[in-house]
Amino acid sequence: MSDPLVAGPNTTGAFMRNTQLPSGEQLPVLGLGTWHMGERPQKRQDEIGAIRYAIDHGMTLIDTAEMYGDGAAEALIGEALAGRRPEAFIVSKVLPHHATRQGTVVACEDSLRRLGTDYLDMYLLHWPGPVPLDETLEAFDALRRAGKIRHWGVSNFDTSDMEELLSLQGGDAVATNQVLYNLTRRGIEFDLLPWCRQRKIPVMAYSPLEQGRLLGNSALQRLAAEYSATPAQIALRWVLRDDLTIALPKAGTPDHVEQLRSALDIPLSTQDLAALDAAFPPPKRKRPLEVI
Ligand SMILES: NC(=O)c1ccc[n+]([C@@H]2O[C@H](COP(=O)([O-])OP(=O)(O)OC[C@H]3O[C@@H](n4cnc5c(N)ncnc54)[C@H](OP(=O)(O)O)[C@@H]3O)[C@@H](O)[C@H]2O)c1
Repeated sequence: MSDPLVAGPNTTGAFMRNTQLPSGEQLPVLGLGTWHMGERPQKRQDEIGAIRYAIDHGMTLIDTAEMYGDGAAEALIGEALAGRRPEAFIVSKVLPHHATRQGTVVACEDSLRRLGTDYLDMYLLHWPGPVPLDETLEAFDALRRAGKIRHWGVSNFDTSDMEELLSLQGGDAVATNQVLYNLTRRGIEFDLLPWCRQRKIPVMAYSPLEQGRLLGNSALQRLAAEYSATPAQIALRWVLRDDLTIALPKAGTPDHVEQLRSALDIPLSTQDLAALDAAFPPPKRKRPLEVI
């Protein structure tokens, strides 16, 4: 993308680095994931605190899905954001088997009810599924015209899926592709990432910490020690190294959110990036898109 880097205060007045949607609208490069939130009563207060802390500190992009806890994550977000909806940029997702012309509208309305809002900022097709894509696009367009969603996008779409999408009428209105991306899952660097960048379609990286499995890696631990940081911070900083990709880590406590937010302050050098390339080599050929 050209000139995507605009840093400044956002809806909450907190300072955050931004990127932009194809429409030119700014959104933070760092948001908060919510998969598995809202599922355990004993974690609820920490999770609500995590979402509020994120919003207070500029991580206003909150990612969820009807699938997460069968709506429990959306309900938790609704509770956390009561009275402060306009400060957040909420992304939710429709399950592929719901994504018919009518089913998408019903699923969206259910998500809105759980979230306690009358619009989503972004609505994604969770992964390519059995319903013909043009039906889902028609539904997205109807929802957009009705003011129930502001933007729509896709998730887990490989390059060929994106090409098919863009060949459809209205497909070029796609505003993002949310995919798995972290140090151990670099396949998209070979073709999907440059393909999206060329078309100014921002990529949202999910599971940027590889769900925590990445954090015991010795190269990460070495770098973390050099910066008096944690492996989670270095792993996240790497995803955000060029301000072109949006990262959506999940953190279930305010402390974890604070660690992730402050990862943006770590100045990774060319040598650090080379050390990470040696430990986690970039792809040399096309790999099918990996998913979690
Ligand atoms: N579109 C899709 O198909 C798709 C698929 C997967 C995920 N997603 C989205 O992406 C989000 C993130 O992915 P993810 O949840 O799979 O995994 P992730 O963000 O890679 O990792 C989450 C794990 O990292 C831990 N963590 C967070 N901050 C930490 C810190 N500072 N120090 C140590 N550990 C830390 C969390 O623990 P705590 O909870 O204890 O903080 C949690 O166990 C999801 O929540 C979801 O919104 C989308």
